[in-house]
Amino acid sequence: MMKGLKKWRLFSLLAVLTVFLAGCGQQELSTLLPAGQVGQDQFTLLMLTTGIMLFVIIAVMIIYITAIIRFRRSKLGEDHIPEQVEGSKTLELVWTVIPIMLVLLLAVPTVYFTYKLGDVTAMEHVDEDGNKENLVVDVTAKLYWWEFEYPELGIVTAQELVVPMDEKVYFNLMAADVKHSFWIPAVGGKLDNNVENVNKFYLVFEQDSKDLKDGVFYGKCAELCGPSHALMDFKVKTMPRAEFDDWVVAMQATEGVIADAASTDQGEQLFAQSCIGCHAVSGVGETGAQGPNLAAFGDRNRVAGFMDHTEEDLKKWIKSPQDYKPGNKMPPFEQLSDGELDAIAAYLMGLTVEK
Ligand code: CUA
Repeated sequence: MMKGLKKWRLFSLLAVLTVFLAGCGQQELSTLLPAGQVGQDQFTLLMLTTGIMLFVIIAVMIIYITAIIRFRRSKLGEDHIPEQVEGSKTLELVWTVIPIMLVLLLAVPTVYFTYKLGDVTAMEHVDEDGNKENLVVDVTAKLYWWEFEYPELGIVTAQELVVPMDEKVYFNLMAADVKHSFWIPAVGGKLDNNVENVNKFYLVFEQDSKDLKDGVFYGKCAELCGPSHALMDFKVKTMPRAEFDDWVVAMQATEGVIADAASTDQGEQLFAQSCIGCHAVSGVGETGAQGPNLAAFGDRNRVAGFMDHTEEDLKKWIKSPQDYKPGNKMPPFEQLSDGELDAIAAYLMGLTVEK
């Protein structure tokens, strides 16, 4: 009986571990599979510190176990007096010099990478025409969504960050309400989004996200910010520079798009009556909107950052957002009939710049 129980316990432990470790293999979300130079540098540091830690643990365990086995009273007798080592120069040198070396081994690369990854001087570089040489994205975190503004390009997105590959992309991180933290596990981070100051850093995206499971990397909020903190995901789409330029042109082409209250499309009509106060449907604009920009809603792959990107889930969300993401700022639209919800959902799914 006991033996069976033990086996069962071991089995369940293994099962839990399998589920847990399976998470490590998700390339779109894994710190352990870095997809860019910043992530790689952070991973190197992670491995170095883990290595040093393991070395210390193993060395201490070996000494500890040796002492227990070799110096037993039963083995050496009651009257045994061990060799007196107080004031031993050799020993004191050993246990002073080794830790100092380990600390140096930790400190030098850490300081080096901290300065390297925190270097944002190139953010201000401009070419002859006065244009910024590098792509800069302003990230504003809100309860519970993300706004990405490309100030030089005049466009703004919500919940989806689209970036070109193989170049440094610089970020200005801010928050509109409480503290959040910007983290793209596979690519790098995290850095806090604060209300009272702007944090800056850069990331390099070296892998095309279209090869991933959902075609995107995922970003997360890494600072406990409220009841829906864990649901504050955003998608990160990486693409070659030429494709990115096409995307920018497509986004810029949405300039002036507005939902028309006199439209023959019932969805657009309802949107113009109920939603337009908070949500823009043009991707040209600035940060500061009440609700997420929906210009490219049809191109997203999740609703509200975590629900399935289906009309079914979209309708549930519009009807009672608080049931799904407690504490968010969107009011419920329970008064809408099923037919009206269908129309709005179809209209939103049709808002796309990529197809
Ligand atoms: Cu925002 Cu946690």
